[in-house]
Amino acid sequence: MRLDGRVAVITGGGRGLGEGIARRLAQDGARIAILELVVPNGERVGASIPGARAYEVDVTDLAALSSTLARVREDFGRLDIMINNAGITRDRTLKNMQVDEWDAVIRTNLTGVWNGCKAALPYVVDAGPAGRIISLSSTSYLGNFGQVNYSASKAGVVGLTRTLALEVARWGVTVNAIAPGFIDTAMTRAMPPDVFDRAVSAVPLGRAGQPSDVAGAAAFLASDDAAYVTGQVLFVCGGYTISASHV
Ligand SMILES: NC(=O)c1ccc[n+]([C@@H]2O[C@H](COP(=O)([O-])OP(=O)(O)OC[C@H]3O[C@@H](n4cnc5c(N)ncnc54)[C@H](O)[C@@H]3O)[C@@H](O)[C@H]2O)c1
Repeated sequence: MRLDGRVAVITGGGRGLGEGIARRLAQDGARIAILELVVPNGERVGASIPGARAYEVDVTDLAALSSTLARVREDFGRLDIMINNAGITRDRTLKNMQVDEWDAVIRTNLTGVWNGCKAALPYVVDAGPAGRIISLSSTSYLGNFGQVNYSASKAGVVGLTRTLALEVARWGVTVNAIAPGFIDTAMTRAMPPDVFDRAVSAVPLGRAGQPSDVAGAAAFLASDDAAYVTGQVLFVCGGYTISASHV
């Protein structure tokens, strides 16, 4: 199995894409640490993956994240793969958006990713060429109505990823982002059904993505097969961004 012997941390691993990524990396042989704000969800996923452990953490809290990763390293003996997946939405047009909705999304989706990179850095550098940082961006970073906060946060993840890739390349560590398009999770099911259906109809492959589609991309980037891939954004969007409006 291509991730045998590796230890992977997944933030926001208690449901949705994070849960899918955790399950897939475990299938590929990795040992899994789930970091989650909603404790029962983290524990449910942790308990259902052999050898996995769940930890309560809020990614917006750098001190808490750093001490949690130190515990992961102690519990598992190493930490090779950091997946910055935790994210939230607070959608509104700028006209109606309140400053707390801007702050919450930037704090979780961008500062949370910076915190994850900062806290994981010594461990992934120790892992050398097995070291991986993979962060969840989104096709929305290209622009998406009603998401100025979310789009800005996910564009920030791209800039952070490309720059950090340069800084850690000397150790063989790779840093990449995944930009999912429209994936069927609780986050997207929270939309009104007609908005959900309209979004699906704009996908060239004709369906919403599944968490397993994103998990497959994460497993690739985490593996030695992607050892020469760094600073990239891998779109997992059923072709959505091919259309002229995204060029
Ligand atoms: N679903 C999609 O279509 C889609 C598309 C593009 C990008 N994404 C991104 O993928 C990631 C996962 O999305 P999802 O659809 O699975 O969302 P989700 O809401 O189903 O799951 C997100 C998880 O993150 C956790 N979380 C939120 N804030 C946290 C915090 N401060 N600390 C720790 N954990 C926290 C939540 O408790 C939840 O378990 C997000 O970054 C999201 O922006 C999702």
